[in-house]
Amino acid sequence: MAKHDLDSNYLDPDYEPVVNHSDNTPFHEVLAARMQRRTVMKGGVGAALASIMGVSLAGCGSSDSKSSGTTTGSSSLSPELGFKAVPVSTENAVVVPEGYSSEAFLPWGTPITGSYPEYRADGTNTGAEQEQQVGMHHDGMHFYPIDLKTGGNDSTEGLLVMNHEYINQGALHANGPTDSGDNGGFRPADEVRKEIAAHGVSVVHIKQDSDGRWDVVFGSAYNRRITGGTAMDIRGPARGYSKLVTPYSLNATETRGTLNNCSMGPTPWGTYLAAEENWHGYFATSAADRPREYVRHGVGSSSRYDWELADSGLDQYVRFNVTPQDGGSSETDYRNEANTFGYMVEIDPFAPESKPQKRTALGRFGHEGVIFAPVTEGQPVVCYSGDDSRYEYIYKFVTSQPYNAATASGSLLDDGTLYVARFNDDGSGEWLSLSLDDADFAAKVAAAEGTEVGRSGILFEGFESQADVIVNTRLAADIAGATPMDRPEWGAVDPNSGEVYFTLTNNSQRTDAETDAANPIVENRNGHIIRWKEAGNDYAATAFEWDIFVFAGEQGTETTVDGNVVVSLTDDNIFNSPDGLWFDYNGVLWIQTDGYSNDTYGNQMMLAANPETREIRRFFVGPSGCEVTGVVTTPNSKTMFVNIQHPRGNWPDASEDRPRDATVIVTRDDGGVIGA
Ligand code: FEO
Ligand code: CA
Ligand code: CA
Repeated sequence: MAKHDLDSNYLDPDYEPVVNHSDNTPFHEVLAARMQRRTVMKGGVGAALASIMGVSLAGCGSSDSKSSGTTTGSSSLSPELGFKAVPVSTENAVVVPEGYSSEAFLPWGTPITGSYPEYRADGTNTGAEQEQQVGMHHDGMHFYPIDLKTGGNDSTEGLLVMNHEYINQGALHANGPTDSGDNGGFRPADEVRKEIAAHGVSVVHIKQDSDGRWDVVFGSAYNRRITGGTAMDIRGPARGYSKLVTPYSLNATETRGTLNNCSMGPTPWGTYLAAEENWHGYFATSAADRPREYVRHGVGSSSRYDWELADSGLDQYVRFNVTPQDGGSSETDYRNEANTFGYMVEIDPFAPESKPQKRTALGRFGHEGVIFAPVTEGQPVVCYSGDDSRYEYIYKFVTSQPYNAATASGSLLDDGTLYVARFNDDGSGEWLSLSLDDADFAAKVAAAEGTEVGRSGILFEGFESQADVIVNTRLAADIAGATPMDRPEWGAVDPNSGEVYFTLTNNSQRTDAETDAANPIVENRNGHIIRWKEAGNDYAATAFEWDIFVFAGEQGTETTVDGNVVVSLTDDNIFNSPDGLWFDYNGVLWIQTDGYSNDTYGNQMMLAANPETREIRRFFVGPSGCEVTGVVTTPNSKTMFVNIQHPRGNWPDASEDRPRDATVIVTRDDGGVIGA
């Protein structure tokens, strides 16, 4: 059924600047990669092997991630991959290895709160009903054992928290979105309400029955929908800043909604940070002169779904029009609304009445997600976040206050130093401070005043405060001299080695003159995975050493170290456009893709990797048209949850006529550990 299964926005690179869903055949690239020296980076072990939320599991060894000087035994912690690789597939179905089973769970529209309104397969659920149902376009996800707060690690009951990145308007409504031309130039308000409600985050209390089947715990107080309209607090440096003043919050301390939530990060204190990625596309301004806060992020003249055109004219929709009105001010129009987006948003799944908190100290950009380093008592908390757009950067945040397990909370994230990464060609790297209190950064800022900065060429007129730096994080990183990357997506920290991995999904526009050792591929259509080790095994260090873990591509694509081939891709592991990335509790690295599909690659997939040997095997292939994004297991590693976003046709239910994003549950038929 073609009518309902294609969101034309998929094809617009300004939105998910990804997404080449066409079937173009890529040129074959066998990479004689120019690789820097491979630094052996095995120190720092004693790290929590099985860490959940970055806190060591009961009975799972030391949590001292900072012990130095020890060297791991050659392969004692090397996770063995115990399954047979699955071939590429173009079937409109999930493929898992022999001995494994999969089942779709929590598809879009599943009722989870309130009156539990039944999903209607004809698209006629209302906006109010969608507010009580699982949203669309499942993405980043984490499983919180139900007894986490009392130190437990239950693998049979917990809170599954997931993002809903964006929507397929065609499938969402009974007959697709109403053409505004047929409605006086406006959009029907209930369609807009439903679209906003299909975005955001779901918190779902789930439990396994005695037969091992997972289901929603109906009536649980934990079940919750957070949407593009939920009230939220602004925290950190941008709280109270004049550029965040809106009629909704004259003192710039609150806003409504979180949007385009791509990946996420579980915090060491058991909360969930949802990332705001391509939020810029939800706002429209007709102003000829847009502020730099909008220019550098791509807020433009039309919005993705025209929510500002809702025919009810209600304030909650008008706010997506960020045009300054004649004779108006930030207190009377929504010129600043888009400055209240672009952050990491903290949600406490165990406190269903709690208000989400936008943690602005982590920067304002196209946050793909966030990954916390394992925490150590008395040391700062450290986390990493990528800005997924071509030539954007990788950031690190280091808290001012030390971690203390007994008192740690999200307020730690309101005060600290934001850094951006520079990858030098010799394999070294530096974290460049974006704090005006840092003498080097302050000097760069002073020198940049009156000049055109970065690729955007914005005439830089200074920063009035650290809040201004935060709201203009990309501009600050331009000035600091960060390395423009090939679209940084998810990160993951190896619980054994302490190395930090990041996917660089692709950048088909990189020219020869723009290549560097960390982004060495001209027209990088397939992407690669980079990793680094912080100096002295100290996550808060300002220096690191890096290498490239693997280059993606077709059969024969090579990754070399010191001239030696360490990976040569085969039928068992060709892939393109790595996006999702997660270390499981046994140290296996899971790699998910969101790229192009054709006869060579088949559909998008998930692979497992041994970080030490770089062995990679394809574990999972998704249905047609989807991306595979979001993965987590229960603490015992026996149930795996994998999200399928924007499937096509009528997956997962062949008896229906529209696709439904869903979580896939993967188990081993013998009840064993996934991947082992
Ligand atoms: Fe939403 Fe960068 O993937
Ligand atoms: Ca992604
Ligand atoms: Ca993506």
